[in-house]
Amino acid sequence: MADSQTNFAWATLLDIAAPDGRRRLHDRLAHALRTAIRTGRLTLGAAVPPSRALAEDLGCSRWVVTQAYGQLVAEGYLVARVGSATRVSWTPHTAPPRSSAPRTPVRAPIRYDLAPGLPDLRAFPRRRWADAVRTVTGSAVHYDLGLPDPAGHPVLRTTLAQYLQRSRGADAPVHCVSVCAGVTDGLVRTCRALHAEGITDVALEEPGWGRLRDAASSAGLRVHAVPADHDGLRVEELVRTPARAVVVGAAHQFPTGTVLSPARRAELVRWARSVDGFVIEDDYDAEFRYDHHPVAVLQGMDPGRVFLLGSVSKTLSPALGLGWLLAPAALTQALRAANPVAAAPPVLDQLALATFIDRGWYDAHLRAARRRFRSRRDLLVHTLATHLPHSRVSGTAAGLHLLLHLPDGTDARAAVQAATAAGLRLADLDTYRTAPSPQRALVLGYGNINDTEIPPAVALLTEALRSTAPHPRADTGR
Ligand SMILES: Cc1ncc(COP(=O)(O)O)c(C=O)c1O
Repeated sequence: MADSQTNFAWATLLDIAAPDGRRRLHDRLAHALRTAIRTGRLTLGAAVPPSRALAEDLGCSRWVVTQAYGQLVAEGYLVARVGSATRVSWTPHTAPPRSSAPRTPVRAPIRYDLAPGLPDLRAFPRRRWADAVRTVTGSAVHYDLGLPDPAGHPVLRTTLAQYLQRSRGADAPVHCVSVCAGVTDGLVRTCRALHAEGITDVALEEPGWGRLRDAASSAGLRVHAVPADHDGLRVEELVRTPARAVVVGAAHQFPTGTVLSPARRAELVRWARSVDGFVIEDDYDAEFRYDHHPVAVLQGMDPGRVFLLGSVSKTLSPALGLGWLLAPAALTQALRAANPVAAAPPVLDQLALATFIDRGWYDAHLRAARRRFRSRRDLLVHTLATHLPHSRVSGTAAGLHLLLHLPDGTDARAAVQAATAAGLRLADLDTYRTAPSPQRALVLGYGNINDTEIPPAVALLTEALRSTAPHPRADTGR
């Protein structure tokens, strides 16, 4: 099947059958190849088939093909290397018409990454992950390779249930755990289920991660922004909205970095009961707490009213696209019914994660990551205090980011633009708000930067603030 498609494609691309009395067959083939390259149908770097294969496809002798290839190599259209495929080595000079050319924004190369969002990608446990993938590829039974269970593979669901109980204090019966592609995907699924249950309005924290707002509204819910302060979500403000569901980063609010206070946790659960509603707990980076043990999940306080969402995006890599959703038992059926075409991530990846956790590699990875991030955070806080003494750091010693409050009058947006132009990635707190605020702050992520890069990155930030300050000083105090 695949072969015949290939034959058909090459025969169509290189139409040498057309009668051309003046040309010999190998000239006709060379002409067809040259035209395909000149018109961009064969692009730079593309491999042409081995001469024997193309000869078979076109129904000519191999000699014809080698002659044609040789001609185009001599003309510079193809390049042939011993032991490797012959490839196109030429690209048309004429640029495509302006209007159809894709516009790629020109950006300064990133020298330092202080933007929030990523874990330490250099520390991805490649060897152990590869071992886990190899193991499950060898050990998966035939049945595992059949149609996947949309709720996730039972092996991973069992492993996750144990993990969530053991490390997050969750109440997690296996039948309530499903596998999804991450927190965002889990939120879409949850909101669809709540919508089907008659819930029309959901509240999200302000400031907050915009993708969560998008996820909730894409599921058909009306979204309300509720402010978060130094104690986390302000439940007294939530009460004033028509929402019967709320998304909350209880362990570590993004981006303020606060932890929901014990009083607010209790208040939130009381609120959910009073409106016959639900809390959706975003447990996105709760594994990382540096001053003491992570607080247990809110879900454990009322498993019938709290959904718990988590993923490996902050611990391993967002590229894996693996997460979990723990739902109240009474809503597991509704969750499935509301997401009839939602697919779980690839089964072998799910089994690899289960192996990775079961062998203790996830815990070991988290222990090492915690040590690394704790000292990196200390270094960043210290360097900021030295260079920018009038700015103030806030946020619990947790997660992968902190907030840097800037002196009054600072133009945070201009500073971010200046820093970006100099190759430093970072984010203005306002980008996480639905409306701008007078509070001036930057959200600095330290997940994906080397310790040695922190001093020069902070020096660049200091310069960006200085160059955009209304007064000559970078850090002018309050
Ligand atoms: C607040 C918040 N929640 C969740 C996530 C993780 O989302 P996902 O698991 O879909 O990658 C992020 C990632 O940046 C985040 O900032």
